[in-house]
Amino acid sequence: MNTTDKIYVAGHRGLVGSALVRDLRSKGFSNIVERTSAQLDLRNQQAVNDFFAAEKPEYVFLAAAKVGGINANNTYPAQFIYDNLMIETNIIHAAYTQGVKKLLFLGSSCIYPKLAPQPIKEEHLLSGYLEETNEAYAIAKITGIELCKFYRRQYGCNFISAMPTNLYGINDNFDLNTSHVLPALIRKFHDAKVQGAKQVVMWGTGKPLREFLYVDDLADACVFLMQNYNDEQHVNLGTGEDLAIRELANIIKKVVGFEGEIVNDTTQPDGTPRKLMDVSKLHNLGWKHKTTLVEGIATVYEWYIDTKQ
Ligand SMILES: NC(=O)c1ccc[n+]([C@@H]2O[C@H](COP(=O)([O-])OP(=O)(O)OC[C@H]3O[C@@H](n4cnc5c(N)ncnc54)[C@H](OP(=O)(O)O)[C@@H]3O)[C@@H](O)[C@H]2O)c1
Repeated sequence: MNTTDKIYVAGHRGLVGSALVRDLRSKGFSNIVERTSAQLDLRNQQAVNDFFAAEKPEYVFLAAAKVGGINANNTYPAQFIYDNLMIETNIIHAAYTQGVKKLLFLGSSCIYPKLAPQPIKEEHLLSGYLEETNEAYAIAKITGIELCKFYRRQYGCNFISAMPTNLYGINDNFDLNTSHVLPALIRKFHDAKVQGAKQVVMWGTGKPLREFLYVDDLADACVFLMQNYNDEQHVNLGTGEDLAIRELANIIKKVVGFEGEIVNDTTQPDGTPRKLMDVSKLHNLGWKHKTTLVEGIATVYEWYIDTKQ
């Protein structure tokens, strides 16, 4: 991928897509094609075919998707499976017909079986039952990986897939009804500090272990794979390190400067006890994350104060 090559970042306004655009621009890539969902609904096959025929991108980062938390996934499973299947099928097929040189498809760690051994290796895919609450989304994402694999096998397309762990970063969702745990905790501690509250209530026991990757590191890893990886198996993207949600809360509390106490609401569910990706494949390819959790959270909190307050 050369700096003048035409690169389409699908989903460029999202958490991942916006980080990809930042990363590509910082590395000198200047020919980036972007469309919002209002300009190009990726569920519309004709519109996607017309767009690829007109723009003829050479490289594609597929970071457009319908995403959401447990609640949204559980309530709207038909929308989650339909939107994601349509988006990825339309883009992958158009990329094939228009001769795109390389495409990177982004999935998610929820594609793995609910009871996969920890840390989760790439080969654990399709080795057991999925978590019921996000099954529709996971089935669509698994299909995306399989599409890349079979278009490579039958048509020789250089389409690759990457599976990121939990991500966080600027442009994240801080809406307490739909956000992931890390931005939700930033918001809760910030609001408590501003309101002079004595306590912040945290869902569950705080014991489950989770892994978090800073989205700018994720973008760097995606560009690295675009430049260096050409095989059919998907690649896990993560740090290979996890921590208890309670420890995460303590880090955020410190970064935000909240001086009250953390109270656990143990009537709320904990979820899976541990979810950690095995990233030895990524490390063996020569990529490792750079941003520590404290550094990443500090940057996100600064951005949150500057833009959301
Ligand atoms: N966030 C995480 O922790 C995480 C973790 C692992 C994997 N991932 C993966 O990374 C990818 C991107 O996630 P994200 O967190 O960046 O999501 P996001 O912030 O919600 O962004 C998704 C983007 O997709 C676009 N989009 C959705 N439906 C579309 C449609 N019908 N037509 C055109 N564009 C559409 C949206 O465009 P508009 O803004 O223009 O509407 C939006 O910018 C997903 O595949 C997800 O599975 C995310």
